[in-house]
Amino acid sequence: MNVNNFRFNLGGKEYVPLMIGGMGVNISTTELALSAERLGGIGHISDAEVMHVCDQLFGTSYTSDKRRKYADNINNPDKSSIQFDLELLAEAQKRYVTHTVSQKSGNGGIFMNCMEKLTMNNSAATLKVRLEAAMDAGIDGITLAAGLNLRTLDLINDHERFRDVKLGIIISSVRALSIFLKRAVRLDRLPDYIVVEGPLAGGHLGFGPEDWKNYDLRSIVAETIEFLKKENLDIPIIPAGGIFTGTDAVEYLEMGAGAVQLATRFTISREAGLPDEVKQHYINSIDEDVVVNTASPTGYPMRMLKQSPTLQYAMRPNCEGLGYLLDNSGKCAYIEAYHQAMGSKGPNERLSVNGPTCLCTGMARYDCWTCGSTVSRLKETTNRLPDGTWQLPSAEEIFLDYLLSEDHAIRRPALEKQF
Ligand SMILES: Cc1cc2nc3c(=O)[nH]c(=O)nc-3n(C[C@H](O)[C@H](O)[C@H](O)COP(=O)(O)O)c2cc1C
Repeated sequence: MNVNNFRFNLGGKEYVPLMIGGMGVNISTTELALSAERLGGIGHISDAEVMHVCDQLFGTSYTSDKRRKYADNINNPDKSSIQFDLELLAEAQKRYVTHTVSQKSGNGGIFMNCMEKLTMNNSAATLKVRLEAAMDAGIDGITLAAGLNLRTLDLINDHERFRDVKLGIIISSVRALSIFLKRAVRLDRLPDYIVVEGPLAGGHLGFGPEDWKNYDLRSIVAETIEFLKKENLDIPIIPAGGIFTGTDAVEYLEMGAGAVQLATRFTISREAGLPDEVKQHYINSIDEDVVVNTASPTGYPMRMLKQSPTLQYAMRPNCEGLGYLLDNSGKCAYIEAYHQAMGSKGPNERLSVNGPTCLCTGMARYDCWTCGSTVSRLKETTNRLPDGTWQLPSAEEIFLDYLLSEDHAIRRPALEKQF
């Protein structure tokens, strides 16, 4: 039995039941998402820091223009005056989504991961623009993540694609799901799919910094299936977090999941956005390198490699250019920590900021090495080359391994010749 024995039916369309999860900032690139789409599955892009991503991809200057506009504010701990220009935000979002969906060539789908915790100093207005611009540009689906808000559906319920775009949510407990569904029922717009993300996932976790160890994906999936059955709701669920082999995936599909969401194994694919040397760090990592910490100023725990350069940051906050994590009153936990550290630093002392990191910068520079808990097993999935580095597999090789392998076997990519 392998994954290819199953299909994922979503709104009358059949997909291969493999979904590559959103990985901001531009780790799940256009190319990575397209490789899933080409093979009949679903690939995500992420709209995290989309204006910065456009600057990198298309040579626009959204970030430097914004930094220049607010240059006088750079030393001010009060960032409430910094606002994103909503027209430019819409322009960037459309550009990025159009760039991706216009290259579709298969039968799969291109979805967008949208983290609601990117509150951008104006949460409702910026979120509305992000969602509407993505729908205008032809995104197939939107996965609402990190910071799920009950009012999100209200923001877009007058958009012409509100009922046609596939809408999904990421939850880590039945409790969060049932609260969201109450709101969705009132709008007569249930989610089309539910990603159930367990405690072993990468990125931000929907559990406490310590209590994540008390949970396991299989139990949450079973409870979710039970809950939906009791409520008479037929919504496909998509487990995520720690699914490392095709056989792991089959076990969830046999339990009744519609598809599975995967990420960590694809971080080292040639198509993923991380720089090659960071991919090597991922593959070389050992269990002891993986930590769940509270360095993210969002307040959510995050899993990452303890060698992540962002954990050493002591830099002036860069909210004038970035500022994606500013809450609605222009605050971010890193700004406070930075100014506190500046205030207590002796004249010849090196600045050291304890606690939160500047995650906007950390993610933009690929200095935050977030990963799922299986990262230390990536060695099992590829070949060591004669020069000691690891071969980076293509996304297609990883996807096909998930699709076709059996008995927890992992097919390594064909050995690449080094000259
Ligand atoms: C490098 C990396 C970045 C991620 N970034 C995001 C993100 O921006 N938004 C999100 O909702 N989930 C994010 N995730 C979570 C994944 O989308 C996915 O649900 C989860 O990691 C799947 O588990 P696995 O990594 O064990 O396969 C990220 C995961 C990784 C590994």
